[in-house]
Amino acid sequence: MKSNTEKFGKTPHQPSLWTRADALKVRADDPTTTQPLVSANFPVLSDEVFIWDTMPLRDIDGNITSVDGWSVIFTLTADRHPNDPQYLDQNGNYDITRDWNDRHGRAKMYYWFSRTGKDWELGGRVMAEGVSPTVREWAGTPILLNEQGEVDLYYTAVTPGATIVKVRGRVVTTEHGVSLVGFEKVKPLFEADGKMYQTEAQNAFWGFRDPWPFRDPKDGKLYMLFEGNVAGERGSHKVGEAEVGDVPPGYEDVGNSRFQTACVGIAVARDEDGDDWEMLPPLLTAVGVNDQTERPHFVFQDGKYYLFTISHTFTYADGVTGPDGVYGFVADSLFGPHAVPLNGSGLVLGNPSSQPFQTYSHCVMPNGLVTSFIDSVPTDETGTQIRIGGTEAPTVGIKIKGQQTFVVAEYDYGYIPPMLDVTLK
Ligand code: FRU
Repeated sequence: MKSNTEKFGKTPHQPSLWTRADALKVRADDPTTTQPLVSANFPVLSDEVFIWDTMPLRDIDGNITSVDGWSVIFTLTADRHPNDPQYLDQNGNYDITRDWNDRHGRAKMYYWFSRTGKDWELGGRVMAEGVSPTVREWAGTPILLNEQGEVDLYYTAVTPGATIVKVRGRVVTTEHGVSLVGFEKVKPLFEADGKMYQTEAQNAFWGFRDPWPFRDPKDGKLYMLFEGNVAGERGSHKVGEAEVGDVPPGYEDVGNSRFQTACVGIAVARDEDGDDWEMLPPLLTAVGVNDQTERPHFVFQDGKYYLFTISHTFTYADGVTGPDGVYGFVADSLFGPHAVPLNGSGLVLGNPSSQPFQTYSHCVMPNGLVTSFIDSVPTDETGTQIRIGGTEAPTVGIKIKGQQTFVVAEYDYGYIPPMLDVTLK
């Protein structure tokens, strides 16, 4: 198997590397890059459903958009089963942890609306049962297209396979709320190719998901980010000098880190509607560092390209580690070259080590607000007792300055204010 740099040698751009040396700089519990403690007394959005990945309605330039004064978010959602015998433990009590851990297999796309950018009201399922071609409806991005309220929802159709798809519908408002209509015809866009992006046949633990379309503010073209793994049979990847980076003496041993092969993928649209896409080589690779760079997204600020992606402690490679949270990289243009890890290490907002699973799936919005969901929060000193979330976390404010970021504020649970309002015609 060729190393990263050999492999993408003749392609239009070289992927930037998140190296092992960069990751060695990760410092958990640095207050400037650590999410404030989430209290175990958090409110839940719904007793009926769990929610996790949250996808605010936005325009193609990334602005969080309300419609006739209504904010709209999409969430990955699954029913809670407090009374289902399948989820009772030996003592007949509801095993919420098992129910929560099983949620990915029954994830569906729901929407919520609000007048205040918080206190979300449940709208319902986006697509009727049977519309989506696979069992799981995984993360993506809803894009408001125009003043007619048309929305393209890009998402991932999973099991069987993993396909980036889109479905078009429309947002309709009244004085009393919001409904979504249409969303009846799902169009498959592309799947992993096995040449640039790893396929299921190459690795049963492959990742290929989480589309995030955008218009490049400099060249004006339509692109899409997504999560992938670098192509090749599992175990065949090479963690060479470039992937290791400039490590201190004694840190050259890469262990089994060849199994961690995350990348941030990119595709370019051949048409203006975003129906026809061509995959390009990854923007960023983390071979030898981490196996998942999920829900990648950009913030365009000060003429720079801030790339954010979420990752976990458990997906780090041998010899490197970091908290669950959001990581970031900055470059002067879309294709770099050489996106630089923010704060030296890449870590932008991680969970505190005393509550390592308190939040996940952070989305950094262009106004510096970061939304995420509550996973689990310890309820005792030892951390053995936990309370499962499945609801919105307090929003955090960060300031992005050059190659650094700083935590500067905390807001209410699930606070996602609009950046602009569109009046429907
Ligand atoms: C992030 C994530 C996404 C995926 C979804 C599945 O929390 O792993 O990458 O689309 O959750 O539930």
